[in-house]
Amino acid sequence: MEDKNKKEIVLSGIRSTGNLHLGNYYGALSKFVKIQDTHDCNFFIADLHALTTNPNPEELHANVKSILAEYLAAGIDPEKANIFIQSDIPEISEMYLLLNMHVGIGELMRTASFKDKARKALGIGNAEGETDEEIEKQIIGAETNKRVNAGLLTYPTLMAVDILIQKATKVPVGKDQLQHLELTRRFARRFNSFYNVDYFPEPTDFDFGGAPIKVPGLDGSGKMGKSEGNCIYLVDDPKILRKKVMRAVTDEGPQAPNSPMSEPVQNLFTLLELTSTPDVVKHFRDAYADCSIRYGDLKKQLAEDILAVTTPIRDRVNEIMADEDYLRRVVSRGAERARERAAATLADVRRIMGIRKF
Ligand code: ADP
Ligand code: TRP
Repeated sequence: MEDKNKKEIVLSGIRSTGNLHLGNYYGALSKFVKIQDTHDCNFFIADLHALTTNPNPEELHANVKSILAEYLAAGIDPEKANIFIQSDIPEISEMYLLLNMHVGIGELMRTASFKDKARKALGIGNAEGETDEEIEKQIIGAETNKRVNAGLLTYPTLMAVDILIQKATKVPVGKDQLQHLELTRRFARRFNSFYNVDYFPEPTDFDFGGAPIKVPGLDGSGKMGKSEGNCIYLVDDPKILRKKVMRAVTDEGPQAPNSPMSEPVQNLFTLLELTSTPDVVKHFRDAYADCSIRYGDLKKQLAEDILAVTTPIRDRVNEIMADEDYLRRVVSRGAERARERAAATLADVRRIMGIRKF
């Protein structure tokens, strides 16, 4: 941990809403693991954010534990990176209240993720070409007994606080979170200029270099995602995993040599490229090109290669889950370290805003 102060502060979080899948692994976790030595890394479990969708309490707690175990099993090393649970840092909740005083309800209502989640909460469809005003009217005046909770609206404030309270400058997130990051920069600038201070740095996305990875689903189109219901989970039982892969959507097979690939088949190759060796990929590419490919063989190979990645992780998850003492030690140390920085920032913010002792 020496030279910590010189390293760039990286922070990222995952909401505790379920198990982690291959998309999370290749798109986030495996990349986090690679930067643990070179950066001041902070990875946390966003359980307060998970509350915005009103989870069942038992489930919420179980999800925090499983994500924690999955973080560790995937190779995030608590000796190198700081791992903590958001709700263990009470300073975050206080600063969330303070920062909200500088956040506009209009800008929050215009956030894409809010509109999306609000519609889902109200059961409103996604009509094309609707204006912001029309959507806002629906949310405020929806004639329904369902409601959109205020926590959902202020989700970006809480996320900005997660980042700013640690003075993080690099935030590895997926594309869907970039708007939240943009809001974080805006709130930081607004705070600095309102109080005429140069206090918060403006965080940016982490550039891992190369093209961003998009892990596809097995249902033929789009990306693997929790809400898509098309996931291969790191802890999937081998039997279930094989079944999922064998059921993946394909097509009727190449009809002529060197024909272009349909999206579902392309997706299988993308997964194969992530998990198999180059010679295996080449074997199946050649077989596709000369029309000798049998998708069943490809799927069998793919399932085994995915299992080669997930099995050691799954075994470690099971070991770690059984060791509650270890989990407790990791998060209590993580909270201690995260609170040190958070408390210092909160003290500054209170002072800057005029909350001062007599
Ligand atoms: P989900 O879409 O399943 O809800 P999250 O939005 O919680 O997943 O994503 C957490 C992290 O995992 C983000 O950094 C996101 O970019 C990454 N991620 C999620 N799904 C994929 C995917 N299919 N391909 C690449 N990265 C992904
Ligand atoms: N909103 C993020 C997501 O849904 C999770 C998150 C919460 C986060 N706070 C954060 C990510 C701070 C990065 C930094 O994926």
